[in-house]
Amino acid sequence: MRRALPTVILLCAVCGWGGTLQGQSLLIPTGGRAITSLNGSWNSIVDPYENGYYDYRYEPKADGYFQNRHQSDPSDLVEYDFERSEKLAVPGDWNTQRRELLFYEGTVWYHRQFDYDLPAGRRLFLWVGAANYEALGWLNGEELGGHVGGFTPFWFEITDRVSPAGNDLVFKVDNQRKRDGVPTLNTDWWNYGGLTRDILLMEVPETFISDFTIRLDPDDPDYVLGEVRLDGDPGGQEVEVTIGDTGYGTTLPVDADGSGAFRFPAADLERWSPDDPRLYEVRVTAAGDTAMDRIGFRTVEVRGEEILLNGQPVFLKGVSMHEVSPLGDGRAFRPEDARTLLQWAKDLGCNFVRLAHYPHNRHMTRMADEMGLMIWSEIPVYWTILWENESTYELAERQLQEMIQRDRNRASVVIWSVGNETPRSPERLAFMTRLIGEARRLDSSRLVSAATEVTYEGNTLRLDDPLGRELDVIGANEYLGWYLGGPEDIPDHSWTSEFEKPLVISEFGAGARYDLHGDEGTRWSEEYQAAVYRNQLRMMDGIPFLAGTTAWILVDFRSPRRPLPNVQDFYNRKGLISERGYRKQAFGVLREYYLNRK
Ligand code: GCU
Repeated sequence: MRRALPTVILLCAVCGWGGTLQGQSLLIPTGGRAITSLNGSWNSIVDPYENGYYDYRYEPKADGYFQNRHQSDPSDLVEYDFERSEKLAVPGDWNTQRRELLFYEGTVWYHRQFDYDLPAGRRLFLWVGAANYEALGWLNGEELGGHVGGFTPFWFEITDRVSPAGNDLVFKVDNQRKRDGVPTLNTDWWNYGGLTRDILLMEVPETFISDFTIRLDPDDPDYVLGEVRLDGDPGGQEVEVTIGDTGYGTTLPVDADGSGAFRFPAADLERWSPDDPRLYEVRVTAAGDTAMDRIGFRTVEVRGEEILLNGQPVFLKGVSMHEVSPLGDGRAFRPEDARTLLQWAKDLGCNFVRLAHYPHNRHMTRMADEMGLMIWSEIPVYWTILWENESTYELAERQLQEMIQRDRNRASVVIWSVGNETPRSPERLAFMTRLIGEARRLDSSRLVSAATEVTYEGNTLRLDDPLGRELDVIGANEYLGWYLGGPEDIPDHSWTSEFEKPLVISEFGAGARYDLHGDEGTRWSEEYQAAVYRNQLRMMDGIPFLAGTTAWILVDFRSPRRPLPNVQDFYNRKGLISERGYRKQAFGVLREYYLNRK
């Protein structure tokens, strides 16, 4: 019988995610910490039958691959050997590292050894940026715990388990799609499996700063407020918070469980914005521990049909993008990948990017802070999720919590999205409304949205999804000129809305293979795509409640739903840039529009 991932271990004493955000959390700051990377070449075993975990009756076995056993004498029967097995690079997906794994969905085992001589009085955490989709971890044969969800971090405390030398670290990663999963069975992106993001060791004192948040007080932005959390023995500790060399700061006590809140005046802080992405070095010190992070200060809110950044109306000139390596293949995971992708968005004239359809790696949002791009960050509640399934809801909620916990100090992130193109039903509305409530409970300083579907009535597109009542910003996907009609039909369309709220057209676009040419009526030609863009933008100029848009999509990306030979070849071709970095005509059309739009 297949073993469900041990929920109890999931909510391990260290991370405690089952409960509120007030539970434990673990911040990976940009400074102040001893961090060791475990990235590199790992041993790997491809295990489609999960033979390394289950016996012939499909019962979990004690002597699985996680024991990393070796022959103790020539008569010994051991039918696997990590050291002699093929390697996989970590971080990275397995699909694009080995041709035979391109379509592979199943289990792969990862193993590496590491030495770590932990000094007395110190603690050690193993932090995993992400593993798609289900991961289980072991250290020296002992189970650490597991995680479900391919796009958010998880961690384990290994203080009492680590040896000075020869530690065996093993992960079982399984990317099989699940009907009750988040996402579920059907997506229009490649199901890249593996240890797809950084794996780090973080050493801290016995009592340390496990988390802090800081932001402008939305009710009075001349003040800064936030929370801190100490883990260990917080009793009687004082915490100091300082903002760069501004002289602004405070000290505060923490209560018995290590948490404290602060608010202090900081009227002259420069505001973060795309034109001036000002960041400050925020330092939090307590119990001999220091956590440092580069943080921007800004406010974002809605006023009727407008979105206000630092109190001023702003039009979100955006593009959507998947987390794919800009010039390579597979998942992006390096800071340079983020810089290249975001630079392409800036070259397009953007001040905003929609990270579709799942939280991207931490380098992406940090780079957006540095480069001055506002961000829409989303959880993969995508298409037909099992709305009535409580464990599916819990999975979605936890991904939301993990996304917000990781990025709530990122000034660039202005919108949390709770999903994409989810078909209307009372069960879906209830599910999404709960998520929206949770997002607001965790973070009242940002806007909440979702990519909804419009109602087409003749030449009118109507915003009437009941979910709109719950959202701050209405996201709407439409493909006039591609899935509906041709480029020439677009300008005849107009929009109405049941909500006095800002609209972001979260997807529009058309497919084109780079360097395929024809007239504006020839599908897949660059000319057709460019014509769709020209007419979409003309239509958009007529929408009074439009506050922004994120064209679909910056770069062509792999999708198992796109097999058309010599055109798609398993790529979604709606990119403005080909997977090899070549710009299509439509790139110029959108760029010119954004450069001229105030
Ligand atoms: C959908 C969906 C995207 C998809 C796109 C397309 O709207 O949200 O994930 O890739 O349309 O069809 O190209």
